[in-house]
Amino acid sequence: MNLLNLIRDRFVGPLKTLVDDPAPFVDMIRPAQDAKFGEFQANFAMPLAKQLGKPPREIAQTIAQQLQLDDICETPEIAGPGFINLRLKASFLSAQIGRISGDDRLGYSPTSSRRNVVVDFSSPNVAKPMHVGHLRSTVIGDAICRTLRFVGHQVVSDNHIGDWGTQFGMIIYGYRNFLDEAAYAEQPVAELARLYKLVNQLSDYHATKAKLTTLQSESATARTRLETAEAQAKDDKAKKQLNSLRKDIEAAEKAVKDAIESIEKVESSPTLLKAAQAHPDIARKARDETAKLHSGDADNNTLWHQFIPPCLEALNQVYRRLGIKFDMTLGESYFNPMLPGVVSSLQSKNLAKLSEGATCVFLEGNAAPFIVQKTDGAYTYATTDLATIQYRVESLKADEVLYVVDKRQSEHFQQLFATACLWGIGTVRFQHVSFGTVMGKDGKPYKTRSGDTVGLESLLDEAVSRARRIVDENDDRRESPLLTSEERARVAEIVGLGGIKYADLHHSRDSDYTFDWDKMLATTGDTATYMQYAYARVCGIFRKMQLSRDSLQTSGVTISVETPEERRLAVQLLMFGYAIDSVLNDYRPHLLTTWLYDTADAFSQFFDKCSVQNAGSEELRKSRLVLCDLMARAIKTGLSLLGIEVAEVL
Ligand code: ARG
Repeated sequence: MNLLNLIRDRFVGPLKTLVDDPAPFVDMIRPAQDAKFGEFQANFAMPLAKQLGKPPREIAQTIAQQLQLDDICETPEIAGPGFINLRLKASFLSAQIGRISGDDRLGYSPTSSRRNVVVDFSSPNVAKPMHVGHLRSTVIGDAICRTLRFVGHQVVSDNHIGDWGTQFGMIIYGYRNFLDEAAYAEQPVAELARLYKLVNQLSDYHATKAKLTTLQSESATARTRLETAEAQAKDDKAKKQLNSLRKDIEAAEKAVKDAIESIEKVESSPTLLKAAQAHPDIARKARDETAKLHSGDADNNTLWHQFIPPCLEALNQVYRRLGIKFDMTLGESYFNPMLPGVVSSLQSKNLAKLSEGATCVFLEGNAAPFIVQKTDGAYTYATTDLATIQYRVESLKADEVLYVVDKRQSEHFQQLFATACLWGIGTVRFQHVSFGTVMGKDGKPYKTRSGDTVGLESLLDEAVSRARRIVDENDDRRESPLLTSEERARVAEIVGLGGIKYADLHHSRDSDYTFDWDKMLATTGDTATYMQYAYARVCGIFRKMQLSRDSLQTSGVTISVETPEERRLAVQLLMFGYAIDSVLNDYRPHLLTTWLYDTADAFSQFFDKCSVQNAGSEELRKSRLVLCDLMARAIKTGLSLLGIEVAEVL
């Protein structure tokens, strides 16, 4: 049940007596900011008054008179210029909680309009260990899949790994020229990653050296331009323009500085310098290896087949630990045979044209073309994504495809969806579920002290070892500890991984967020640990009273919502359906974390003020036990939709 929708539906009839399309006004019925005025508030009277040319209070009154809500709410109250305040009836609250008590789904029934949704997430480029940057897509995508499934949609989770393309040409070149056999035998993925990094660095070195003089002269020109303009600037407007010239200089000088730095990095190391000198045309040769791989060269394909299994195993190790499963892992390589067909289909529909040797789709409103085949004949990321769309629509019968990918790729997806639409892909809905960057406390993308990206595995290890300290301290504080050493390890894994996932999910996905260990594992505040505590607390109450939650008798218990704390908790529990629907509206898992936090918070106040054990009457004690149990189910279900577990003892 979605409580807000239940109420909104009742407004449709009365609104229809005033306007043809009530939808935008129905949307203005929202949860109230302050419980003093009730739980919901309708704010449409003012805009409606403008449209109809009548006083807003009069409109609010007309609607309120026609409302049939008395099975749910007290008589609506009209406040201020025409707000309609709605307060849920105690009898309604009590009956609804009674109805959903003992239910892990909190009364949420599966949808009757099931969609077939493909979710493309995680999708790392293989042959490099996963790093902190991969966390967001993996965790957000998994939460979306779980929530969609919970609601009853058909979901295909697809890990579109980058297992093809230029990186493999580089690795093959590196393998043939710089391989450390012992390292490869011991840790193949780490060695392949080293080779990739090395070939990349040497290619960059030559390219940067070749363009250094140009960069320097660009910087000098920018300076001259500023000096000339400064001499001529007379008024404010002219001075404003100078600011942009100053920015140009800054950018040009930074480019020179970066170039010099990266050159020095190679030249200051005798081994690197020697390698660079011995491989002057490394970039071209690596590209040739890629081209050979793509065109079916036997040796390169054998190497590729040798590299892929250890890379996949390394990824799977991380996924297993995070509890993440994919229905399919169809990487870029899978689509390679389909790429020529994509280009010719686009050409035959007159969508792709030759331009300066490359085959491009030109889209209205886009300065840059969408390139599907480069001058040298190579297909691109774009071509692969078009082939993937064709497969997802034709073979997987997708109604909707979600791409959980860094927001820096938004232009790519905008062009991809526009091209797919012109290509005639039908009524399928595409969405780029974009997200921001994980930042360090220094305000820059999160790195280790030495400036490397933070490996995901070591990050998970650290989370768990920090969590272990919390679990140990807690249990040691008890008169008689409740956990064995293995149990502590298991709980630490739940708390540590939960902390990392939750810290990521509770930020609105578009924004960057700062990685902060202390905040992440804090026991109060908007953290997984806080919710996990609330859950364990309920388990503790039942344990102390020597009752089993599973055999708690829930039917026939009258739920009391007399105190403000009981009432708040009950309302909060009934808002679960609204939270779930809001998440799926625009694929924003943080709306579920907000609900979880409010629920745990409502519980904590309830628990402070309303004694369970000494409730006064047996009836009240039972009612409060039901609320406690339902709250624990709510937390467990809510966290599980985010891929986070709970423990009975913390
Ligand atoms: N492998 C890509 C990267 O690391 C992300 C792929 C996202 N999915 C897609 N269908 N383009 O940037």
